[in-house]
Amino acid sequence: MTATAGGPWRNPLRDKRDKRMPRIAGPCAVVIFGVTGDLSRKKLMPAIYDLANRGLLPPNFALVGFARRDWADEDFGQVVYEAVREHARTPFRQAVWDRLAEGFRFVPGSFDDDAAFTELAGTLDRLDAERGTGGNHAFYLSVPPKLFPTVCEQLHRTGLAETRGGRWSRVVIEKPFGHDLASARELNAVVNAVFPEESVFRIDHYLGKETVQNVLALRFANQLFDPIWNAHYVDHVQITMAEDIGLGGRAGYYDGIGAARDVIQNHLLQLLALTAMEEPVSFGPAELQVEKIKVLSATRLAQPLDRTTARGQYTRGWQGGQPVVGLLEEEGFAPDSTTETFAAITLEVDTRRWAGVPFYLRTGKRLGRRVTEIALVFKRAPHLPFDSTMTDELGKNALVIRVQPDEGITLRFGSKVPGHLMEVRDVTMDFSYGSAFAEDSPEAYERLILDVLLGEPSLFPVNAEVELSWQILDPVLANWAPHGAPEPYPAGGWGPESAARMLAGTGREWRRP
Ligand code: BG6
Repeated sequence: MTATAGGPWRNPLRDKRDKRMPRIAGPCAVVIFGVTGDLSRKKLMPAIYDLANRGLLPPNFALVGFARRDWADEDFGQVVYEAVREHARTPFRQAVWDRLAEGFRFVPGSFDDDAAFTELAGTLDRLDAERGTGGNHAFYLSVPPKLFPTVCEQLHRTGLAETRGGRWSRVVIEKPFGHDLASARELNAVVNAVFPEESVFRIDHYLGKETVQNVLALRFANQLFDPIWNAHYVDHVQITMAEDIGLGGRAGYYDGIGAARDVIQNHLLQLLALTAMEEPVSFGPAELQVEKIKVLSATRLAQPLDRTTARGQYTRGWQGGQPVVGLLEEEGFAPDSTTETFAAITLEVDTRRWAGVPFYLRTGKRLGRRVTEIALVFKRAPHLPFDSTMTDELGKNALVIRVQPDEGITLRFGSKVPGHLMEVRDVTMDFSYGSAFAEDSPEAYERLILDVLLGEPSLFPVNAEVELSWQILDPVLANWAPHGAPEPYPAGGWGPESAARMLAGTGREWRRP
C-alpha cells in the first residue's frame, strides 16, 4: 500500500472510526485554475462549501482563484458566494461561510504570465504564514488539456510543484485526459515530468458516487452474488448512461470530442472495471488499481466494429413536453458537425470469469430520460417445466445497479401470478438508498476533493488505466472517422436504429430503463 504524506489509506469498509468520525483534511490551500468555468461554479465551489459545512475542512484552509479577470479578493468571494447559494447541497450557514471566506484569495493573470505565477507563489506563502495552511497545496486544473503543459511548467518554475519537508503539492486533473492514446501519453509525460505519479489525482467523478462504490460492497461484502457473477450464469451486461439534456452552451468543449471520448473512455469503462474485476486483496489503492488494470488489459472490442458499435447525433424532437432543437442547430456547433452525441460499443472480457459474455456500453444526450445503470442480465433457466403459454411474460432475470437517479438495486425474476393457473411473470424487488438510509449521499466532488486533501488515491484512476482505456477505444474512433455524419436520432428517443440492430443481431435487446 502506498503511504503518502496524508497517511496510509484507510479502508472505509473496515475502519470503524471513519464511520463515527470522518477524517478531516489537514491544513492546506486549494488553488483552482479555470475558476470562471462551469465546473468550478456548479461543482467545485459548492463542494468546498459543503465540506466546510460538514466540518471536514480545517480552520487553516484557503481557497485561491486564478484567472484572467480584473478581480479583487472580494469579487472572487462574491462569485463563490453566488455559486454556493445556487448549487450547494447542504443548507447555508452564515458562520461557516464567514470563516471559510476569510481564506479566499484571488490572483489575476493568464497562464503564460510569469509574474502572475510569481504572485501566486507569494500569495500561497503569505497564506501559509497568516492562515497556517502549512505549505500544503492542491492545484486543481479545471482547464482544457492543451493548457496543462503551460500550467505545470509554471508550477515547476515557481517551485510550487515541489514536495519537501513533509509538505505536499498535489495536482488534480479533469478529463478529457487526451483525445486518444498518443495524446494521453504525451499529457501524462508532461504532467509526470513535474508531479510524481503519487501526487497526480485524475478525476473521474463517477468513482466518487456512492452507488458506484456500492458495486464493491455488493460484490465483495456478500456471499449471495459471487457464485452467479460469471459467464456460467450471466448472459450479458448492459451499462447505460443516458442523459436527457442537450448540448446547448457546451460546443466549446464537446464539438469534435463526442460521446465516446466524453463518457465511454472514462466513466463507462471504470464502471465495467468495477463490475468485472476480481476481488482485490484489500481496498488499498495499489490493490484496487492492480485489479482494475488486470481487467482493462483483458478487455477487447467485439468485431466487426461496423456491427458491434453504433453512433448517432440527435435531431430536433420533444423533451419533457417541449420542442427541442437538434445538435446542428445548437449554438456554437458547426452546421456540418460530425460529432456523435450517442455512442454504443460491445466489449468482451477475456478472462475465465467472463469469456463469451458481451458487455454492451451506451451513452447519449437527449435520450428519453436521465438514467445511469449497470444491468447484469442472466441466462434463461435451462429448462422451464411449465406450459409454454404460461411463461410468455417471463423475461431474463436481471440484477440492476441503479447508479442514478433513484439510487439503489433492482432484482428482476419470475413469480407466479395469483390464480389457479401456473402462470409466471416478471416481478421486481427493489432496494432504494432513499428509503433504506436516513443520510443523504454526498456529492461525488465532495468525496473526491476531500480525498485529494487527505492524500487518499483509491478513487482516482492512474496513468495505466487512462492509457488502457484509450487503447480499447482508439480503434472505434478510427473506424468511425472516415464515415462522416453519425446516424440521426430524434431527441427524446433512445438513440439510433443501429444501436437497436447492434443487439438484435445477437438476439438481445436494450433494456428500456
Ligand atoms: C461529465 C460529462 O463527465 O459527466 C458530461 O463530460 C456529462 O457530458 C456529465 O453531462 C454527467 O455527469 P452526471 O454526474 O450528471 O451523470
